[in-house]
Amino acid sequence: MLTRRRAIKSLGIGLSAAGFGLSPLLRAQDNASTRQQLSIPVLDSGTFSAGVNNFDLSLQRGSHSFLPGLSTETLGINGNYLGPTLRFKRNQKVALQVSNKIGEPSTLHWHGFHLPPTEDGGPHQEIAANQVWNPSFDVVQFAGTYWYHSHVMHSAGAQVYKGLAGMIILEDDEQDVALPSNYGVDDIPVIVQDRRFGDDGSLLYMNRYEDQVMGMLGDTILVNGTVNPVVTVGTKLLRLRLLNGSNARTYNLGFSDNREFYQVASDGGFLESPIPLTRLSLAVAERAEILVQFDPGEEATLLNVALPPAFPDFPGAMSEMMRALNTQTFDILHFRAEASLQNNGERPSQLADIYRLPETAATNTRTFRLGMGNGMRSGDDAGPGRGARNGRGGGFGGGQFSINGRIMAENYINETIQYNTTEIWELTNTSPMMHPFHVHNGQFQILDRDGSPPPINEMGWKDTVQVGADELVRIIMRFTDFRDEENPYMYHCHILEHEDRGMMGQFLIV
Ligand code: C2O
Ligand code: CU
Ligand code: CU
Repeated sequence: MLTRRRAIKSLGIGLSAAGFGLSPLLRAQDNASTRQQLSIPVLDSGTFSAGVNNFDLSLQRGSHSFLPGLSTETLGINGNYLGPTLRFKRNQKVALQVSNKIGEPSTLHWHGFHLPPTEDGGPHQEIAANQVWNPSFDVVQFAGTYWYHSHVMHSAGAQVYKGLAGMIILEDDEQDVALPSNYGVDDIPVIVQDRRFGDDGSLLYMNRYEDQVMGMLGDTILVNGTVNPVVTVGTKLLRLRLLNGSNARTYNLGFSDNREFYQVASDGGFLESPIPLTRLSLAVAERAEILVQFDPGEEATLLNVALPPAFPDFPGAMSEMMRALNTQTFDILHFRAEASLQNNGERPSQLADIYRLPETAATNTRTFRLGMGNGMRSGDDAGPGRGARNGRGGGFGGGQFSINGRIMAENYINETIQYNTTEIWELTNTSPMMHPFHVHNGQFQILDRDGSPPPINEMGWKDTVQVGADELVRIIMRFTDFRDEENPYMYHCHILEHEDRGMMGQFLIV
């Protein structure tokens, strides 16, 4: 504990945003002796009977010791913190029995899945305390890394923060891509989250002004719930399934020795071929599978690498807060390779053929304007050309989070989409910070960013896309298979505090 407090204090010096209590990140990782073995969530492959794969999930309260000598109250699924990794197979039907034992309403959403809206687990599929929800659906999309999490109206942030989330691995037995697939050995789930703890070990949530604006940023990194984690590597090739399961933080990932790694999958499945990278940006809810190679006896650390301030410098709270964002380097996960490494295959050169949805297939275009208008200048959302940045220096009051000027209302359908059509969605951002925009019911493709093709590792299937300040991102998506006049799907910013405060909307497919 002393080490931790001291680390925080010493890093605090010289932080321009200190006036706003933006806590610097913990680097207990400086102290190699406190490293803990990375915890690997239990793999749950379900129980197969009568053509259906059955999963039993129980949302429960628990406690867990994240920090030495301290116990923290948590939420978990079939456990104390987070949930099991669910393994689905493509073209199988899954049936899930979700029991809510946390004493308050909740939901469980299957993030990234193409399914009927009634099975989606969004805000409308609320499970009251002590009730059971039994969704089922056919798993029809591509193999990849997905996840599940609470999506309860107004409190998704609080519930995910305490632990209501888990990974889903979707496998396709018919796909012959040879990649490491020994779960927890050379195919490793990496759920990255940042949290903030009180002196008594309790999880602090939304206790500072800036949390209201930026979303909940923590000062302690957890990977699969482990603080200061280390993985022992026993094979030459490692596949990491990276999931940003944080509430608000975007990571700029890279290795301590700047080694090259290869991205093989994005949100909705494989890329066409492995993409060599040294840095990878991962916003909340985005996934990336990467391959990393190790030599015997090597050590390396997966880091968040500091970026320069990305917001203009002018007097006022907003500038200071925004300028501090993403400007610290810190450790995420340490790797220690054994003295002799098993040969577990080579990196493939080809992965998948991706059919690029042609722009000409789209029969409709919609615009979505992400806004964080301030109380005084509600003009942010009143019309084009009056972005929040024009109001710089003005009193930024913590904002009204909206899309197209509207705050999410459960009884209001924002968009009605014609069944069996393809649409282009133009995403714009009049606010000063990036918002990761997520659409339910499957995967889309990114057409362009400010008119230019996206980077090659964004050419695959996506369900969450970063929309930077003042950026115009165009995505293309098909609306097939499920039509329902009554039950909507959601689209929203995946910074959970923004979502909870209204940066969300609903669409019907009719
Ligand atoms: Cu991962 Cu609507 O959520
Ligand atoms: Cu989702
Ligand atoms: Cu947002």
